[in-house]
Formats: sequence, structure tokens, C-alpha cells
Amino acid sequence: CGIFGVLGSEPAAPRLLDALKRLEYRGYDSAGITTLDESGRLGRRRAAGKLRNLEKALDAEPLSGTTGIGHTRWATHGAPTVNNAHPHIAGRVAVVHNGIIENYRTLRDELMARGVKPESDTDTELVAHLVEAALAAGLSPKEAIGATLGKLQGAYALAILIEGEQDLIAAARAGSPLAIGLGEEGTYLGSDAIALAPFSDRLIYMEEGDWALLSRGGVEIFDEAGEPVERAIVATPVSISMAEKGNYRHFMAKEIHEQPEVLGHTFGHYLDLAQESLRFGAAEGIDFANATRMTIAACGTAYYAGLVARYWFERVAGLPIDIDVASEFRYREAPLTPGQPALFVSQSGETADTLASLRYCRAGGQKIASIVNVASSTIARESDVVLPTLAGPEIGVASTKAFTCQLAVLAALAVHAAHARGRLSEDEVREHVGILAEAPGYVADALRLEAGIERVARDLSHASNALYLGRGTNLPLALEGALKLKEISYIHAEGYAAGELKHGPIALIDEDMPVIVIAPHDAVFEKVASNIQEVAARGGRIILITDERGAEEVGTQSAETIVMPTVPPMIAPIAYAVPLQLLSYHAAVFAGTDVDQPRNLAKSVTVE
Ligand code: G6P
Repeated sequence: CGIFGVLGSEPAAPRLLDALKRLEYRGYDSAGITTLDESGRLGRRRAAGKLRNLEKALDAEPLSGTTGIGHTRWATHGAPTVNNAHPHIAGRVAVVHNGIIENYRTLRDELMARGVKPESDTDTELVAHLVEAALAAGLSPKEAIGATLGKLQGAYALAILIEGEQDLIAAARAGSPLAIGLGEEGTYLGSDAIALAPFSDRLIYMEEGDWALLSRGGVEIFDEAGEPVERAIVATPVSISMAEKGNYRHFMAKEIHEQPEVLGHTFGHYLDLAQESLRFGAAEGIDFANATRMTIAACGTAYYAGLVARYWFERVAGLPIDIDVASEFRYREAPLTPGQPALFVSQSGETADTLASLRYCRAGGQKIASIVNVASSTIARESDVVLPTLAGPEIGVASTKAFTCQLAVLAALAVHAAHARGRLSEDEVREHVGILAEAPGYVADALRLEAGIERVARDLSHASNALYLGRGTNLPLALEGALKLKEISYIHAEGYAAGELKHGPIALIDEDMPVIVIAPHDAVFEKVASNIQEVAARGGRIILITDERGAEEVGTQSAETIVMPTVPPMIAPIAYAVPLQLLSYHAAVFAGTDVDQPRNLAKSVTVE
């Protein structure tokens, strides 16, 4: 979900709407805003569905006032109806909230026993009732907020308005990020820097357990114990243009096409091209030379980046990898060896399951490294070693440039680990650096295939199911390709190990089943070629993504062939991600879905 708050001198409602548009990628089931008018009264507009519905509600019935809070929601407690949309109001108090209040039932029972009748099914409304009850008991706004926070358990970010208090927004952060923007014309609150960028160039990131009272003149911040604390003021890390679509129809298209550039930045951070060496100052904290095993945990697309990296770390660096999706890893009770490295991959750096896995490894005495795209994120802060991807803000819900940048960092890190473990000589490192540096160029070449891929996507958009096959590093790509397709075009797709085809999924093959095979002419190509025969023999419609040599050898077995440049095997996963992204992007455009904000999904998932 996204939170925004403003204490300014101009009308608050249009600013809230503008900021919520930038935050809509975080959730878009429903949205709402509350302002305090000139006489200090609360006014609220809410709407189910996307932000344009809220915009219409505000056009019909505008809200006045220069103080306000707003929210765009990804439903957890309660269906995405108007009634469950934020802000929630109880008496004099309005609240917007990200995350989950875990002791929701106990609080609800207590409040109901005192005669409170909640209007919604949400945990958020209870927070409003708690503050209201504390105010009614005679506490000051500050005391009421402090007392309420003491009762809450769970992971949340909150913004609170109180009737009659036009110069106050209360904010609290426990497990879900919040930043305060200090601007010329006012003070702002946002769940990420992207929302704050147009309004202020100075930010304060609230820390875990912090709560704050914002006013036009500045901000007072308190720690968990209620003691006043000072937090650093930093420059806003994103420019406004980075969070805009430019000439592209969708953020996803823009982000796909940005890849040569952002991969260049990311590789530039880790490779010293003049010296043909690696720049891994920060990773020196990881003792790869003596490591016996490394844990990797992540979710979604970031997990698939980790799966590709398993092949690199095992093959190039001889380092065994234990990798799992974070939602399983955190509860698996995996025995850990203290001192061994654990690596977490996350675009947002806020994914709840990934963070919980990190803390599990921290408690097990492991060395914590993370690859994140948001440098100020919680996962970054809680890591011993932070390896940034320099992808810039990723707005499209389906991850593209963050994925290839994660692969870039992982590939460079695997080479670094291989060198530390004596698996690669200086000369071999130089050679690898040269190869890695070519990746942005191959990605640019792959982007030139867009027109042909778009034609293939037109057919694919009519399918109801699709199968993606690959072996070796192409298996995680198959999984990622299938995820991309189902996320944005809603076509059911499965990624499968090509060799596993005959153990079940082959039963699904008929002329209506497109089978996308990712098969550069690499060490396992012959094996994949046999799998292609198996599909062709059963009438399956093959879309083959390969290089010239592969295309020659498979010949007419495939209905469609996307011919990629010949890419060195180490960086093939980075280049081959591109046709998969373009295929799902164009299939979704043909299918007419909401590409950047597909139904039910959210960009940053801060709940379990
Ligand atoms: C969500 C997003 C995915 C993303 C996953 C992990 O499900 O929709 O695109 O891969 O979370 O997010 P992270 O920020 O940890 O990479």
C-alpha cells in the first residue's frame, strides 16, 4: 500500500491525488483521502478500484483544507470495498495504514466490550478507535498516539490526523517504511521517496520503531521508548523524471528499454574496465575463501535471479548454494552454520518474507549480504554487506530491469567469489570482466528483435495456457518467463525443467498449447533439442528462443523462432530475459490488460 501526508499552504487534495498516482504501483484495490478544512473538521472521500475513481469522487464533491493524508490500498483485512478503503475515521481521528496489526482480534474484542461498533472489517479502523478513546480520556494528541502505539503488535506504517489539529500529522513506523519530506512550502510524509520527490529535496527516513509529530515548521521524532531522537536529513535520491513514463505507453515498456543503460550503471559499479578487475570493496566483508555453503532467499522474480546465480556460484566458484523462496525458508527451520554467508535479493528491500529470512539468518550468526534496488530499504539497513543494483525506480509491477540488474550483480559477485576461492586466476578474472561488460550490448541487440517478438505475442495472447521450458540457467528463465506472462496477461503459464517434461506435463501438449523453449546453443543444447522433438511429435506449437546455430540445428521443428545474437554462456541469462519480457509485454498489450498494474498484485509486499 502507499501512504502520503501533506501539511502545506496550498489545497491538500490535488497534491494528495498527485502523490497517490506515484504510489499507485504499491497497491490499487481502493484509495482515499482525508483533509482538515479551515475550521479543523475532517472530510473524507474514498473509492473502490483505481485512483481515477477517487478522482471522480473528488470532482463531484471537492475537499478543502491544506492538511491531509491519503492512501492507496492492497487489501489484506477485508475486501477492497469503499467501506474498507482508508482513511478510517473514529470520532475525531482519521488513520491510514500499511501492513497488518497482528493483535487485531484482541483489540477488536476489547473495543467491542467497551461498546465500540466498528464500521469496517479492517484492522486499521481499530487504531482510530484507540486514539479516539485515549483523547476522550483526556490525553493530549502526543500522549494519545504514544499510548495507542504501545498497544499495537505487528508490522505497520501509520499516518494519523486529529480533528481541530490543522498543524499536525502523526506518523509511526514499525516494519513498513515511511519517510518525511522537508519542503519549502510544507512538511510531507510518504511511504517512499518517489512520492516525496516532487515536493521536497530533503528527506528523513524514519527508523524501525520511530514515531513522529509533523508540523509545517518541522518534525519531532521519538524512538520506541518515547525518547526524542534526531535522524539524519538526506538528499532525495530520485529525480522526478525517473518516476515518469516519458514517451512510452507503459512503465514496463520504458523499464524494458532502459536495461542497456541501467545494466551499464550496475556493471560500472562492480567492474573496473580500465584495470579489467572487479570492484568489490563492500563484499570484502564476505569470507568467500573459507565459505562452505551460502544461503540465498528471495521472493518472486528476485528468487529466480537467485536460482540463476546458484548455477554461477556452484559452477564458477565451486560454492554450494542452499536457495529457497523466502516464505518457505523462514519457517523451514534450516540448520545454519554461524559465520557462513547468507544472501538476500530484493528489488524493494521491504518484502516481509525476505526480511524475516534475513533475521532468521542473523539470529543464526550468519554474515548477511543483500542485493537491493532501494538503498534506504530495511533489508539494506539490516545487512552487513549491501550490494546495490542501480536500476533506478521500478514502477511497473512486473519486474524487468531490476531482474537483469540483480543478475548483473550476482554474476559479478560469483566471479569475485571464484577468485577469492582460487577457482579463477587473475587472467581468467580479466577475461570474465570483459565478458560481463558486454552484457548491456547484447541486451541492446535483443531489444532490436522487438517487432518480430510482437508478432509472436499476438498469437500467444489468444492462448489460455502456455508452457516454458529450459535447462540449466535457462530453467530459472523459463520460470521467470512464465511468471511474467501470467502476471500481466493472465494467461496460465508454467515454467518447467525441459528434462522433466516427460514426467508429467507432456500429457498437456496438443495443438492449442504454445511451448516456449529457451535454448541458446550451449552445453545442454542437444538435450533440449531432444525435448523439442518430443513436443513437436505430439503436435505442440513451439516458440523457440535460440541463436543462429540453435535455429539451424532444430530447423523446422518450431512454429516460431526468435533468433538471438550468439551470447557468451555466462551472460546469456541476462540477454535472454529480454525476449521473455517483450513477449509477455506485447501479449498483455494485445490482451488489453492493465500492464503496469495487473489485478490483485502489488509491487512491494510487506505482509506475509
Ligand atoms: C512482488 C512483486 C514481484 C517481486 C516480488 C519480490 O510480488 O510483484 O515483481 O518479484 O514481490 O519483491 P522484491 O521487492 O523483494 O524483489
